[in-house]
Amino acid sequence: MGRDVIVACDFDSKEKTLAFLDKFEGKKPFVKIGMELYYSAGPEIVREIKARGHKIFLDLKLHDIPNTVKKSMAVLKNLDVDMTNLHAAGTKNMMKAALEGLTREDGTHPLLIAVTQLTSTDQESMENDLLIKEPIDQVVMHYAKCAEESGLDGVVCSPLEAKKVHDTCGKNFVTVTPGVRFADGDKGDQKRVMTPAQAKEIGSDYIVVGRPITAAEDPVAAYERCVREFVD
Ligand code: C5P
Repeated sequence: MGRDVIVACDFDSKEKTLAFLDKFEGKKPFVKIGMELYYSAGPEIVREIKARGHKIFLDLKLHDIPNTVKKSMAVLKNLDVDMTNLHAAGTKNMMKAALEGLTREDGTHPLLIAVTQLTSTDQESMENDLLIKEPIDQVVMHYAKCAEESGLDGVVCSPLEAKKVHDTCGKNFVTVTPGVRFADGDKGDQKRVMTPAQAKEIGSDYIVVGRPITAAEDPVAAYERCVREFVD
């Protein structure tokens, strides 16, 4: 499996997204479509970007009863995405059902990635709101292990956690890491950040980069800089 840069297309319309991708001309970056764009533009945006030759990470973070998730994953399988995700908090039964729904007739499936604890959840909110009392880093690793035991391909995690995830779940277990910033760039609302080069060093498999590329004066140059630092 190769390292790659995934561009988070956090736009609220099909027009804005396609205008952004048009700037890349011949290049076909791996694209993340999240809830905002999917709920505004629907499955058609996935088909359209796919038809343009991009790989797609559909970031919808499913979390429901196993049967519902299985059937929903079967729909995403037919959209021919390359990577999608769910919440590990849905339990192993839900994760196994999701994988069944996502698996094609030939036994292959798009990469299925688990969200462990959202980075917006901290120790205090986890203890008070979710009644989970263990240290959050142990909870994250436990959820990663449950995902691995359910047959999933990897987890979304902070680049700072990528090494520990690989140590716990094996080096082939994929780490997809947001929170990436250029050394001379604006951190925005991300707190714990790493440069693409540091993410490579620590062993992230995919970095998800939004505003450092989408808000750059020259998005194509910013994307190419990410690729140079992370992939090459
Ligand atoms: O603009 P920025 O590079 O911060 O975008 C990061 C992308 O990764 C966004 O789409 C954001 O929703 C997503 N993400 C994140 N932190 C997580 C999980 C996903 O920033 N823990």
